[in-house]
Amino acid sequence: TQAPRIALRAGAITFRGNPFLAPEAETFVYESDALLVMEAGRITAFGPYEALWPSLAEGTEIRSFPDALLCPGFIDTHVHYPQTGMIASFAGELLEWLERYTFPTELAFADPAYADAMAKVFLRQLLRNGTTTAMVYCTVHPHSAEALFAESHRFDTRMIAGKVLMDRNAPEGLLDESVARSIAESEALIARWHGTGRQLYAVTPRFAGTSTPEQLEAAGHLLKRQAGLFLQTHLSENRKEIEWIAGLFPERADYLDVYAHAGLVGPRAVFGHGVHVSEGNLCTCHETGAALAHCPTSNLFLGSGLFRLFDALDPRRPVRVGLGTDVGAGTSFSQLASLNEAYKVAALQGGRLDAVKGFYLATLGGAHALHLDDRLGRLAPGYEADVCVLDLKATELLALRTARSDDISDQLFALMTLGDDRAIRATYVAGRCAYDRDRAEPFQYA
Ligand code: GUN
Ligand code: ZN
Repeated sequence: TQAPRIALRAGAITFRGNPFLAPEAETFVYESDALLVMEAGRITAFGPYEALWPSLAEGTEIRSFPDALLCPGFIDTHVHYPQTGMIASFAGELLEWLERYTFPTELAFADPAYADAMAKVFLRQLLRNGTTTAMVYCTVHPHSAEALFAESHRFDTRMIAGKVLMDRNAPEGLLDESVARSIAESEALIARWHGTGRQLYAVTPRFAGTSTPEQLEAAGHLLKRQAGLFLQTHLSENRKEIEWIAGLFPERADYLDVYAHAGLVGPRAVFGHGVHVSEGNLCTCHETGAALAHCPTSNLFLGSGLFRLFDALDPRRPVRVGLGTDVGAGTSFSQLASLNEAYKVAALQGGRLDAVKGFYLATLGGAHALHLDDRLGRLAPGYEADVCVLDLKATELLALRTARSDDISDQLFALMTLGDDRAIRATYVAGRCAYDRDRAEPFQYA
């Protein structure tokens, strides 16, 4: 059924451009009393309430949110849904954590019923955190992707996901039986889900460590077989990992070159982490349109290192950068929590991530990283109506803090530093309320 015409009234923030590259006045939009009109899944009008209300079609329901800000739905460019249940597991660095917690957890997805149950929990976690689009790793089991897409389709969220490809260096039960079969399974999922409703497919070799050169190459061919496919994998997250990859691929110049050689570096490719990348790697990403997913809570939790955000976004050769939670190595589904940590990661390198730049990364920046910024990440007519409603008085502390100032950047900074799922009053997906914090049953399918 078609989404009805609904108008939301509250303060609002959105972006017209990238505040890392152009002055805030040209890129950031704040309306202290905005009206956002949504119909048939899209935004049809956005602007000051006083200017817009006279032209509102008769019978349009207006939902007002006091002490709140409308914001484009958050975009999580790197997250593992199967790891939802193992978030916050005490472990050492990356490779140890993978062996000890991650692989055993993902083995449980051999059971389709378990995958279905976890997909439900995962989508609910995203929506209660204001996240409306995510780029999601499933497990090696095709039905894990089926479960995720099916649940996302019920909410009509725009998700990008894929079955993980891995054919070496993991427990037997997590390995693809053959390269041919792993590609055939991916193809079947693409046929079923890529472009079905709002679902999009990402070819997903886990990382160079768990795929043979043959599987990476086959992934590269698969990627070119259909327009608009995505690619996701991990890149240069951890020093030991990088050394290991260098040993596995001695004939390649570096980690990114492993992927480039397989034809995996280009537009709609999203590389998780990129903590320890070279200037040459950043130039390659800039030139090819490939993106990096900055995952600060994960990088701190595993002790992987500090992502060079301002270097990546250097106006001389800006790289597309999205923000990722990387749950379960990441410690929160909240992109507000990611921004809280991103600020500290920058601070440890002598930089300061202000709130305008931060909220850009969590919204339009993510859409740009995914090459979807023509339809996602903004509050503007024609854009898909994915909106989160931020509650400036969500907690006693936030209320106290935001009351002290009427400066929007300062209020946003308090939100990104103190906020979490409590600060999400509601989440609209394709023009419908998918989550309302204050309802008895907060979640609603489309
Ligand atoms: N590298 C390969 N697999 C993973 C994973 O599941 N999480 C993280 N953080 N890094 C990885
Ligand atoms: Zn990851």
